[in-house]
Amino acid sequence: MVTMDTLVSLCKRRGFVFQSSEIYGGTGSCWDYGPLGVELKNKIKRAWWRDFVQRRPDMVGLDASILMHSMVWKASGHVDHFADPMVDCRECRHRFRADQLAETPWVHYCPATKGNKFTIPPGEACTHCGASRTLCPDCGKGELTPPRQFNLMFKTFMGPVEEDASVTYLRPETAQGIFVNFDNVLQSMRRKLPFGIGQIGKAFRNEITPGNFIFRTREFEQMEIEYFVNPHETVEGRPADEYWHDRWIEDSLAWFRRYGIQPDNLRLHEHDRDELAHYAKRTADVQYRFPIGWSELMGIANRTDFDLKQHAKFSGKALTYFDEERKEHVVPYVIEPSAGVDRALLAFLADAYREEEVRGEKRVVLRFHPELAPLSVAVLPLLKKRDDIVRTAHAIRDDLARHLTAVYDDTAAIGRLYRRQDEVGTPYCVTVDVQTVGDTDKGEAADGKVTIRDRDSMEQIRVEGSRLGQVIGDLLGGASWAEVTAAVGRS
Ligand code: GAP
Repeated sequence: MVTMDTLVSLCKRRGFVFQSSEIYGGTGSCWDYGPLGVELKNKIKRAWWRDFVQRRPDMVGLDASILMHSMVWKASGHVDHFADPMVDCRECRHRFRADQLAETPWVHYCPATKGNKFTIPPGEACTHCGASRTLCPDCGKGELTPPRQFNLMFKTFMGPVEEDASVTYLRPETAQGIFVNFDNVLQSMRRKLPFGIGQIGKAFRNEITPGNFIFRTREFEQMEIEYFVNPHETVEGRPADEYWHDRWIEDSLAWFRRYGIQPDNLRLHEHDRDELAHYAKRTADVQYRFPIGWSELMGIANRTDFDLKQHAKFSGKALTYFDEERKEHVVPYVIEPSAGVDRALLAFLADAYREEEVRGEKRVVLRFHPELAPLSVAVLPLLKKRDDIVRTAHAIRDDLARHLTAVYDDTAAIGRLYRRQDEVGTPYCVTVDVQTVGDTDKGEAADGKVTIRDRDSMEQIRVEGSRLGQVIGDLLGGASWAEVTAAVGRS
């Protein structure tokens, strides 16, 4: 498994992710997506939106505002409950989540070894003196304060006056924008249960211990679905909410596998009763084997009718659905598949990373699914001294770029250009050479063909320039390299 340090370094070197405000020393909890990172992120979001919103007849989309009425957060429970217990070191002033201290390695100055400094694994005792951690895990010297509740929402003021009446919050989840629009969508789109609303957008949490690169940050993006079901219905003999919960768990796992995540690196984690959020009947997390170990990639919760009832109570507006069959108003139950875009990106990146040996040399390759790869095609001239080759390569790139992400590169010899594209996961390189354009001095006619090189097998085929768009389209659309080479060979 690739280390986080290797990924961080690759991401910076190749323009995927940079530390935010780096020239000012950086902010540890925010990251900027560079030219390739933004392409990868957009492709992940586009695939999710297409598969879960556009393709499904039971789904619609929404883009709610980040700033909402402050009562939303009172009704949702975030003002009163969205808090972590926090302790501070009285010596070094570092702050920790009290509930994560047992999972943190700790620094210890051992009295049995003349005060030698050791870093001891989480939850373990010192093997020399037998002591367990009581002091600050970072400096090993300071006492910790008793736990205090710390609300994770970013507070701000709406309008020019900073007074209590204008307090609002940056949303800590996109979900509430969906709940408060439930009736708007129901009425305007004439939906019948079950149906879902999907949304992608930024969320903000003043995390006490952000870290592990883009895994836990203070500003991040979510891809969330609230799927409304009739709690009085049964599907295949089971309560509708329980049936749909299982369906969404299966669909979520299948989605990550479809875009190339190795099945062995995914697993489900069922929340125990004491782990469940106050609103949840059942929650299952999809965990990924990140470089930091198995951790949450997304959660799929059964939020019951909690949120709609809370918003109805606080707003005074009925948030119900009229069940024609039973002639009654019901408050739908909600199944919520909620994924982090940044965590998904980290998982796709870690999963794609390979170091291989090719003819005695190390090759780093990101084996991204072709639909997610930041660059779909790189067009490379074999000789940059030949104007006609360069012109043709530019023209091919311009043509491909009408429909997909394509770049032109002539800044190195061809072998090195291939390696550079492998390292950022470009599935196909197209090379223009002398045969493509011909050589009048030698009396050689142009054959109009270009070479396509496959990232994973490193095999190459020559195709007519006029068929390039079609062939690349087939490859990116899911046709295998073997199928396409066979078809090209037959034609
Ligand atoms: N609406 C439900 C909800 O927000 P959550 O488990 O708190 O549930 C859902 O968040 C997903 O959002 C997580 O599984 C994770 O992928 C992502 N996420 C949450 N907090 C994050 C953070 N601080 N940094 C990056 N991603 C985060």
